[in-house]
Amino acid sequence: MTMQERLIVALDESLDESRAIIEELGDHVQFYKIGWRCFLQGNGAFVSDVVAAGKGKRVFLDLKIHDIDVTVEKAMASLPRDVSLTTLYGTGATVRAAREGRNGHGTPALLLLTWLSSLDEADFHGMGGQGSLRDFVVARAIEAYEAGGEGVIASGEHVGAIRSELAKTYGKDADGFLLVVPGVRLAGGDVHEHKRSLTPYEAVRAGADYLVMGRPVARSPRGKRVEVVERIFADMARADRERHRDTAGSSAAW
Ligand code: C5P
Repeated sequence: MTMQERLIVALDESLDESRAIIEELGDHVQFYKIGWRCFLQGNGAFVSDVVAAGKGKRVFLDLKIHDIDVTVEKAMASLPRDVSLTTLYGTGATVRAAREGRNGHGTPALLLLTWLSSLDEADFHGMGGQGSLRDFVVARAIEAYEAGGEGVIASGEHVGAIRSELAKTYGKDADGFLLVVPGVRLAGGDVHEHKRSLTPYEAVRAGADYLVMGRPVARSPRGKRVEVVERIFADMARADRERHRDTAGSSAAW
């Protein structure tokens, strides 16, 4: 995949501002993440608006669906069909229920949330978590993989561990399992509430397939956003070149 295909810009601004961002970024950005704000403000139709913005625009609908299995299944069956990626929060059973809800369709690809990037190891233990956060995140990735999910959302610091544990257990079969990394910041950028933030270079170097970046792009002044996106691509490309030099690289197919 090209760097352009691997950057997902999160639209967490108002509907009007999000439309202005898409317009300004034009052909530079292909993949957008829609969260609760734009989804609700647009009564669900914003997904089609983004796709209609043209030139193969793709949508990651991030609603972190978390409910009893039958409700997850029905929700999944009701998702707009032009969504490429979506998120779930729960167990392997949640992933299996979502697969049922897809009803034979290959999309959207199902990503299980491992642990919010605004929470850290102390929060994990504070909420009763046992052992290390790393082991917990890896175990959730394995659970998602075994249940037939297509990937996970994980912060960059865990990407390497997830990749190597999956490869150890499942070999090349797990190569296409998607690792989607939020909380990414250009060097020196405001990390906001993310307790575990990486640069685009570090995230790609660690083995991320997709990077999710919202405010570093969206909150840049109008007229400057393309420049920011180009800096992100350059940082990603440098890491990708190094990875290809060291390994065979990513084989993500979604
Ligand atoms: O603006 P920023 O780059 O921090 O946006 C990150 C996006 O990724 C937000 O839309 C947030 O909801 C999402 N996200 C996250 N951490 C997760 C899962 C999703 O930050 N673990």
